[in-house]
Amino acid sequence: MARIGILTGGGDCPGLNAVIRAVVRRGVKDHGHEIVGFRDGWAGVLAGDAVPLTLENTSGILHRGGTLLGTSRTNPYAQESGGERLQATLDAERIDALVPIGGEDTLGVARRLSDDGVHVVGVPKTIDNDLGGTDFTFGFQTAVQIATDAIDRLHSTAESHNRVMVVEVMGRHAGWIAAYSGMAGGADAILVPERPFDVDEVCDRIRRRHDAGRSFSIIVVAEGATPTGDTARSTHAETDAFGHARLGGIAVTLEQEIERRTGYETRMTILGHVQRGGTPTAYDRVLATRFGVAAVDAVAAGQFGRMVALHATRIETVPLADALREPKLLDPELYATAEVFFG
Ligand code: F6P
Repeated sequence: MARIGILTGGGDCPGLNAVIRAVVRRGVKDHGHEIVGFRDGWAGVLAGDAVPLTLENTSGILHRGGTLLGTSRTNPYAQESGGERLQATLDAERIDALVPIGGEDTLGVARRLSDDGVHVVGVPKTIDNDLGGTDFTFGFQTAVQIATDAIDRLHSTAESHNRVMVVEVMGRHAGWIAAYSGMAGGADAILVPERPFDVDEVCDRIRRRHDAGRSFSIIVVAEGATPTGDTARSTHAETDAFGHARLGGIAVTLEQEIERRTGYETRMTILGHVQRGGTPTAYDRVLATRFGVAAVDAVAAGQFGRMVALHATRIETVPLADALREPKLLDPELYATAEVFFG
């Protein structure tokens, strides 16, 4: 019997509740563990804000978006005696192992704790799918489905009005959501952070398409995409506790520039947090559930300092250090395939 602490950190993501439920089911039913949830990510560990998680209070949550534990972008190491306060709570709660569910920032804190001797098994989460060491993170597929549905809807109104539609999706460092939803939605250009774009080239593409008889175009752009020679821009001055600027708004510039340079009527849509809300797809529920079960099994096997990961169809574990070495950028082959269909 062990006491396992879990928390959800960083941006929320469809499937978090499915992981929590799986950790509790596997932990309590099959191992006789006690599970303790910390509220609002690392903030709850800093504050000693813990809640017992049971079969009863984690039932009926599989399909629910968000996280019943709450989340935050709290960096404990940016706070006075943050490391000591984390340790003090873990000692007071008699935590034998910690299962943090998060992306690069949350798992970066987990890695530091692990280096300090805390027993940690991470679970990879981000709709951006840009975490190393795993083929996919849960939440990504749901975000792609939401974006694809939106692109489908924009298609019919674009066609009716003979307009260019610019659709901005999330993706800070990597264009995974843009590439997948753009391919699935039949986009005429997909602009991603990995490849700075030339606005004139985008306009030429649209002109060629319209000269060939098409009267509308769909451009999908990731929030982190930038024009050539420019650096990532943000309309917000402040950064989060991990130093990330708040992105969003490249579609506004594109709408104005495309209309000004081509004369075609252009409209933009920023999907924003719609992509993170609501119920997870079946795929993400299954992936999240498999990750949760595997995390408890990794604790039982003493595989600490590691993260559960999807490799092809198998769930395995990888060292946290390997997963966090660098962001997982878009596969160039995937982008090349998407390009075949550009206007
Ligand atoms: O990290 C996932 C993500 O959804 C990014 O795509 C986006 O830039 C960021 O979170 C938004 O964060 P917040 O919800 O804090 O505005």
